[in-house]
Amino acid sequence: MNRSSPSRGGAFDKPVDQRVADFSESISFDYRLYRQDIRGSQAHAKMLANQGILTAEESEKICHSLTLIEQRIEAGSFQFDSQLEDIHMNIEQSLIDELGDIGRKLHTARSRNDQISTDLRLWVRDSIDRIDELLQDLQRAFISRCEADANVILPAYTHLQRAQPVLAAHYWLAYCEKFERDRGRLADCRKRANLCSLGTAALAGTTLPIDRDFVAAELGFEGLVQNSLDSSSDRDFVLEFVFCLSVISIHLSGWAEEWILWSTTEFDFLELPHEFCTGSSIMPQKINPDVLELTRGKSARVIGGLQSLLVLVKALPLAYNRDLQEDKIPLFEAFDTVRQCLELATPLVAGTRLKTDSIRSRLEKGFLDATTLMEFLIKRGMPQRAAHQLIGQVVRLATEKRVTLSELSLADYQSFDASLDDSIYDVLGTSSAVFAFQSLGSTGPKRVEAQISRWKTRLEG
Ligand code: ARG
Repeated sequence: MNRSSPSRGGAFDKPVDQRVADFSESISFDYRLYRQDIRGSQAHAKMLANQGILTAEESEKICHSLTLIEQRIEAGSFQFDSQLEDIHMNIEQSLIDELGDIGRKLHTARSRNDQISTDLRLWVRDSIDRIDELLQDLQRAFISRCEADANVILPAYTHLQRAQPVLAAHYWLAYCEKFERDRGRLADCRKRANLCSLGTAALAGTTLPIDRDFVAAELGFEGLVQNSLDSSSDRDFVLEFVFCLSVISIHLSGWAEEWILWSTTEFDFLELPHEFCTGSSIMPQKINPDVLELTRGKSARVIGGLQSLLVLVKALPLAYNRDLQEDKIPLFEAFDTVRQCLELATPLVAGTRLKTDSIRSRLEKGFLDATTLMEFLIKRGMPQRAAHQLIGQVVRLATEKRVTLSELSLADYQSFDASLDDSIYDVLGTSSAVFAFQSLGSTGPKRVEAQISRWKTRLEG
């Protein structure tokens, strides 16, 4: 049986050079699109029958045969053949092997250009949904931590210098927000991916009386792409999805970096679950945060993938160009990487213990209450710049005396401003400082409580 690609028609006087076949095959990576390819073909075959282009019997035979091919692929008994270039040709040739001329009719009013675009749109849509589920799992893990770590106060940093105290829940909620924006970006990207391009054929459409609306409805698309020439070359939805994945990676890498620092002896803020750590082959005491390091490191693949895709499509003329075949490698890799990172992040968030004694023992270091004290003076009528100057001097004195702000005497305070009285001590100390916060979005306990219930409602169901 001649297994050379069905796309190699009568215009060729020689079979393809083996080196060209090896160079141009994509089945080694686009085999992953088999489900989407089969779904697309079945919808197409049904439509062709509805339109009287195929008979109902031919369409049924095609659909049935495609289901059997899918089962064989899933069972691992389907022989992929690199001579047949890609997933489309592998499936189509198998159909032809099975059904002869009936199989040869499936590619009516269709090109591999609209076929790959449709397969990719379906695949991106499914992948967005999977990433969205994983992001929600991670958000739920953060919300559970809010309850587990109620009343824990953490030092928060700017420039990696101690800045102000926050509730641990406020910290967990910060990540919920970041990953919520990621979900919003994915939902937005999904809208543009979720349009049907099948029926745009090679680049100009078809002269045959197809019904694109039927195919779109059959495949669950929300609408149709409107210009065949544009659609044949359009990979914006791939770029957008990998951009969304890149931002998720960046969020994960920041979190990973923070926790790598926090797990050091120097910080001593948390203990990672040992089943997520690895050891050293020479230093017996080492418990290394490799999952976090790899989460940080693997973001390079995703961000690099986005770069590859942008360069790939830059300056491509309309419409389809074979360059586009290369889009799948960074797309699949970005998805696989982020999926794996998220699958590990959730149990890591759930299983990590905050070392509250260690955190508390150093919480009064670093003058986390200085800004609250400044705002207290502002509430008493002092201009902000004057209060800022005064508290700066107070901090300097406390640093010299090696004490905290609450350990300075009233006489010390009065040496800067004779009108100060005992009431300043009410806002000193990290705990009092946290309770003093009021503004919406702040770490004030009432605000944080309201945020936790908002998130719980949001993530329910
Ligand atoms: N394997 C190809 C790709 O991924 C499918 C489309 C091929 N189209 C063509 N006209 N050669 O882009």
